[in-house]
Amino acid sequence: MLRIDIISIFPEVFEPVLGSSMLGIARDKGAVEFAVHDLRDWTSDKHRTTDDAPFGGGHGMVMKPEPFFAAVAAVKALDARPATVVLMCPQGRTLDQGLAEELARSERLIVLCGRYEGVDERVRSIVDLELSVGDYVLTGGELPAMVLVDSITRLQAGVLASADATEEESFSWGLLEYPQYTRPATFEDMSVPDVLLSGDHARVDTWRRMEAIRRTAERRPDLLSSAQLTPEERTFAEKLVGDSARKGD
Ligand SMILES: C[S@@+](CC[C@H](N)C(=O)[O-])C[C@H]1O[C@@H](n2cnc3c(N)ncnc32)[C@H](O)[C@@H]1O
Repeated sequence: MLRIDIISIFPEVFEPVLGSSMLGIARDKGAVEFAVHDLRDWTSDKHRTTDDAPFGGGHGMVMKPEPFFAAVAAVKALDARPATVVLMCPQGRTLDQGLAEELARSERLIVLCGRYEGVDERVRSIVDLELSVGDYVLTGGELPAMVLVDSITRLQAGVLASADATEEESFSWGLLEYPQYTRPATFEDMSVPDVLLSGDHARVDTWRRMEAIRRTAERRPDLLSSAQLTPEERTFAEKLVGDSARKGD
C-alpha cells in the first residue's frame, strides 16, 4: 500500500481534504495511507522557529534547513520501505499525468511543503524530486501537495469504481477526453449526439475517439505529436489542426 507522509507548518489544512470524498474513501479502503506531520515538532527553540532572514539580505524569510533534515530522517524511520522525498517547488519538474502515473507506483512518498521565500538551498540535498504544479507562484506548498496527493491516489487500484475511468480520461490516451453528456437528451434546444443514444457500442467508441482527437487538435495541438494515433487518425488530426490554423489567420 502506498504511504504518503506530508511535512508542513500547517498540518491542520490537510485533514478536510484527505478525509473527504475520493481521498477519504481511498484511505478507508486501505488503498493509501496518509500521515501529516508538523515541521515545528523538529525545532529546538521555545518559539518553534522554522524560518530566518536570508543571508545577503533581501525581502522575506527562508525556511531553515535543520527542521527539514531532522523531520525527513525521523519520518523515513517510521517505515522500513525506501521513500522518495518530494519538495513542492515552482522551480521543479511540472506535474503531468505521466509523472502522476509513475509516482502512483511508488511505495512511499515524503512530501515537503515550503512557505515564505522557499527553503534553504541545502534542503535540496535530501530531496529526490522537486515538483511544480504549474508556472505560477503560490503562497505555500500545501495546495500543491494536495494536488499531487489527489492525482496519485485516484490512480491506486480499487479507488475508482472502474479502471476504465482513468484509462479513457484526458491525457491518459495522450489526448483530451471526448465530450460527455447525461440526461436529459434535449436541454434548452441542445440535443445529445444521436450516436450516444444508439446503443451501438462500437459506433460510440469510434465517435468518442474521433471527438477526443478533434478536441485535442482544437485546444491542445501540442499533445498530438506524442499521442498514439493510427495513420488515418494522424491524417485526420493534421487536417483539423490545419483547419483551425486557417480559421485563426
Ligand atoms: C512563495 S513560494 C516561494 C517561491 C520562491 N521564492 C521562488 O521564487 O521560486 C513558497 C512555497 O510555496 C510552494 N509553491 C509555490 N508555488 C508552487 C508551485 N507552482 N508548485 C509547487 N510548489 C509551489 C513551494 O513549496 C514554495 O517553497
